[in-house]
Amino acid sequence: MKTALVTGAYKGLGLEWCRQLGKKGYTVILTARRLGKAQAAADELVKEGLTILPKAVDVAKEAQITNLAAEVGKEFGHLDVLVNNAGINSKDNPDELVVRKSTFLSELDPEEILKHISINSISPILMVKHFRKLLNKSDRPMVVSISSWLGSITTKDSMRGHYSYCTSKTALNMMNRAMSIELREEGIISIVVNPGWVQTDMGGQKADLTPEQSVGGLIENVLEKITIEDTGSFYQWNGTKHPW
Ligand SMILES: NC(=O)c1ccc[n+]([C@@H]2O[C@H](COP(=O)([O-])OP(=O)(O)OC[C@H]3O[C@@H](n4cnc5c(N)ncnc54)[C@H](OP(=O)(O)O)[C@@H]3O)[C@@H](O)[C@H]2O)c1
Repeated sequence: MKTALVTGAYKGLGLEWCRQLGKKGYTVILTARRLGKAQAAADELVKEGLTILPKAVDVAKEAQITNLAAEVGKEFGHLDVLVNNAGINSKDNPDELVVRKSTFLSELDPEEILKHISINSISPILMVKHFRKLLNKSDRPMVVSISSWLGSITTKDSMRGHYSYCTSKTALNMMNRAMSIELREEGIISIVVNPGWVQTDMGGQKADLTPEQSVGGLIENVLEKITIEDTGSFYQWNGTKHPW
């Protein structure tokens, strides 16, 4: 049985990852901070004929990650694909003051920046720390962490400020690169991806791509093609390499 686990998956890109991996024959563990939300989303996908199991995990809380890994270990004994999808972006906060704390130098708030780094950069690596043993039981273990074009230093030539989110995705890229070197010998393929600008709550409805297009592109152009030689890379949804 092929198994996959997706974080932050009750809506947006995470939900679409669950749907498309489910359609590819994976048994998918759909996780969200609250079990109720995970359960409701899983129920919808089960109605589509997919095998989906809801679980709760707040990726900012390492103890919850440890417990989840123990539960998955007991129920499945291995993990083939981990999609680190959960992420935050303060630009969506309804409180203008919070948005400004991440956006303008004059109002920059270290706490706000650290919150982004904790969830967007460190949590994906903590997930691997605790799921490593189960990934090692897979024939072709893969970790996909959702980064962003906004994490690229090379392409940051417009959109001034926006410190927290951009920095957190750049840090994720380096965290993954460092981890991939350590995990290479174990055969765990670990990449970061730019999903493109996608129509979700975070991306907004004016975005270029639907979640179906973005995730479909990543599965077909990246997930199904990469080998251990590609570990540590930064890919775009269309399969090309993204500049760092
Ligand atoms: N949409 C785009 O254009 C775009 C572009 C580049 C990268 N991305 C990245 O793609 C990923 C998915 O974003 P999206 O566009 O699908 O946005 P979204 O609909 O806002 O989804 C974000 C998900 O992350 C979850 N989350 C946040 N903090 C969490 C935590 N501590 N523990 C567990 N779950 C948590 C949210 O759950 P709650 O509702 O409970 O907070 C939500 O389910 C993110 O990493 C984002 O940075 C998106």
